[in-house]
Amino acid sequence: MAGKIPPQFIDDLLTRVDIVDIIDARVPLKKAGKNLHACCPFHNEKTPSFTVSAEKQFYHCFGCSAHGTAIGFLMEYEQMSFPESIQELAEHVGMTVPVTQSLSSTPATQNLYDLLDKVSQYYVHQLQTHPQRAPFVDYLQKRGLSTKTIEHFNIGMAPDGWDNVLKTFGSNEFARKQLNEAGLLSSNDKGHTYDRFRNRIMFPIRDRRGRVIGFGGRVLDDSTPKYLNSPETPVFHKGSELYGLYQARKTNRNLDRVVIVEGYMDVIALAEYGVTNAVATLGTATTPEHLQQLMRRPAEIVFCFDGDRAGREAAWRAAENALPLLGGNNQLKFMFLADGEDPDSVVQEQGADRFNKLVDDAKNYSDFFFDSLEARVDISSMDGRARLVEIAKPYLRHVPVGVYRDMLEQRLAEKAQTTTQVLNKHLEKPAKIDSKIKKSSRSTSTAFSPVRIAITMLLQHPSLHAEVGEFNKIASLELPGVKILAQMLETLSENPHLNTAALLERARDSQYEAHFQQLAQQTLTFEADKLQPELNGIIQQLQQQAIEQRYEYLEHKGLRNLTEEELLEYKALYLKA
Ligand code: UTP
Ligand code: MN
Repeated sequence: MAGKIPPQFIDDLLTRVDIVDIIDARVPLKKAGKNLHACCPFHNEKTPSFTVSAEKQFYHCFGCSAHGTAIGFLMEYEQMSFPESIQELAEHVGMTVPVTQSLSSTPATQNLYDLLDKVSQYYVHQLQTHPQRAPFVDYLQKRGLSTKTIEHFNIGMAPDGWDNVLKTFGSNEFARKQLNEAGLLSSNDKGHTYDRFRNRIMFPIRDRRGRVIGFGGRVLDDSTPKYLNSPETPVFHKGSELYGLYQARKTNRNLDRVVIVEGYMDVIALAEYGVTNAVATLGTATTPEHLQQLMRRPAEIVFCFDGDRAGREAAWRAAENALPLLGGNNQLKFMFLADGEDPDSVVQEQGADRFNKLVDDAKNYSDFFFDSLEARVDISSMDGRARLVEIAKPYLRHVPVGVYRDMLEQRLAEKAQTTTQVLNKHLEKPAKIDSKIKKSSRSTSTAFSPVRIAITMLLQHPSLHAEVGEFNKIASLELPGVKILAQMLETLSENPHLNTAALLERARDSQYEAHFQQLAQQTLTFEADKLQPELNGIIQQLQQQAIEQRYEYLEHKGLRNLTEEELLEYKALYLKA
């Protein structure tokens, strides 16, 4: 992989960063014994089960079993990528990430973000100062928007004219190239280049971190297209962005319910009336990428559609796209407005309470799912019920194996007046569980081998490694986990200052990742002063066992058959075994 961040850098970073600072700045923590705790930002709760260990540099929620290092926390909480998290942490402690190509903010895209931000400010400035601003200001007022809301969403105006942005920001060839790359220019057949957005109300679109990545521009009258949007650019991908998500998260620290609506103006009008948890797709259907963005934190996700045919069809498409994501910490719901209404009109004409009530009354996913399918068959006849099973089956196969899927199957069986056994005979292979979506569940296993205890101790208290004594033979033992243990001891003797977080990060993306994460959370029942002797005891015993095994092997081979080297080894072992 080109441009990987050196593990050494990550080790150093994790010894300098304090996870407590990182989390506390986002989720205020309180002291609880030797750890700190708070109500979990990843699921809804009234009493704190989210704990942060300064010693392990690790967080863990006993409620939803969310867990990880400072890097992992930023990835989950701020929805950052791995390199973005590293960058953020490095900035926090004043370290410089070794320059790599894989960082998502390459200099080239950074320039685009900067440019888009400046242009957004320019549009806002025009709305405040342009001589022809009156019709724009009037329009926004007519739509019921206060100055506060206009500012909250950084709404601006693109004045009439072909080259306002071009002239202001495109003073040289390179700058014009950048404008074009940022999606701010259009050109005609003759190769003439001009401003893409002219004489429109401008809505900047921000990514989840608040960076301007594109724009939607609305006309003031009935001309078409009503909305013009930025094209796909290196930083703008329509199919995965949600308008208003940044603002919704900023306003609601714990966004435990999100309403997905259809239009920019719906999000904005709702916010005007105090409904600050709405987001909109950008004129596309809800994709799995959209849902995944929202589902990284447990929340209720309510789809809001028009009650007309188009709305129902869009809802069904959203329901289909959600199938592989069902059964996690998220609840999906559907709500439908009366024909001819949209959230904007509902909230303006009937108020926020009415809108919120409709959200409260939204249909559960499973109800919507079965209602939609049942509408296609005659459920009162046996043939219709058999048909229901047939059409439901391909959908259920996309649901991850688990309780939720079982319950959907159960429900289908009830509706079809048959049993799940009969159904399952026909459901074929289970859908593969997406490991990224399905959270690893906490182990309830109590079978704790010495090897496993040793790994857990080292993971949780890496400094113990310094006094474990010799361990050079244990890797040869044929015991589960022994290779991992030997590897860990080796890593620690080469890098004596690694902490728990750094060990966990070294396992990221390896086959041991989930296993390590689990062991890092396991409660060790030893008292603090017993840890070292326990660990030493285990390691020495393993070492001894390895020595004896090797001795027996050599003895079994027969002295005459040993090489000179083996003979020396045998003699040495004889003293120890
Ligand atoms: P709507 O027409 O419902 O938009 O289209 P709206 O936000 O309610 O607009 P107002 O109230 O008439 O001002 C829903 C979404 O579809 C996309 C936009 O993202 C819009 O918000 N759209 C619509 C376009 O991209 N282009 C269009 O011409 C129309
Ligand atoms: Mn509208």
